[in-house]
Amino acid sequence: MLPSVIVFSALAASALAIPVDPVDKIEFASCEYPNNTANALHMYSCSTSGDTIEVKWVRVTDLNGVDIYPIDPKQPVILELAAYNNGPDYADNKADVRIFEYQKSWQTGVCGWAEVPTFGQLNGIDGCEFAHNCPLTAGDLDLKIELDLSPYANIISMLTANSAIQIQISMKDYNPGSSHEEITCVVAQLKIV
Ligand SMILES: *[C@@H]1O[C@H](CO)[C@@H](O)[C@H](O)[C@H]1NC(C)=O
Repeated sequence: MLPSVIVFSALAASALAIPVDPVDKIEFASCEYPNNTANALHMYSCSTSGDTIEVKWVRVTDLNGVDIYPIDPKQPVILELAAYNNGPDYADNKADVRIFEYQKSWQTGVCGWAEVPTFGQLNGIDGCEFAHNCPLTAGDLDLKIELDLSPYANIISMLTANSAIQIQISMKDYNPGSSHEEITCVVAQLKIV
């Protein structure tokens, strides 16, 4: 009996003696906010050459039109979007949405965008139904889209509060007779709370 207690204590003591590097842990928890997302939403176009709609700027407000930042994904927001449509009127469109979180890689220790699994829930979102943005007419577009992510609570729960996330939206033409080609692609990077 006694020897095994001694062995156990010796093991416990050596386990305690394993040096823990607190600096490593702190670094793991935090990445800098990329592209000044600590202070403001950063948006850019990921369009390829065939895309017809160019998004010029995006503003996020609450339901009363007051600018908000950072953004609480659990609250509905208004996305105000200024764009220019070089193509025809689009009576119907669908969007594929991907979400990434800015994280430090376990392997490399480098901060980068890690995709949040959405299990296809954010593919083929009907723009007319979800964003009430139809039709997308030719020329200048000033869209106010009410965005309520509460149906996607399971996805929101995977996001870390006080981190930077990136939302990539690829919109496709669903006009009758179209081949569902991409009409615009936008990346929005922002801080969530
Ligand atoms: C910052 O934004 C630019 C486009 O404005 C983009 O090319 C770059 O990848 C972004 N950096 C990060 C870390 O996302």
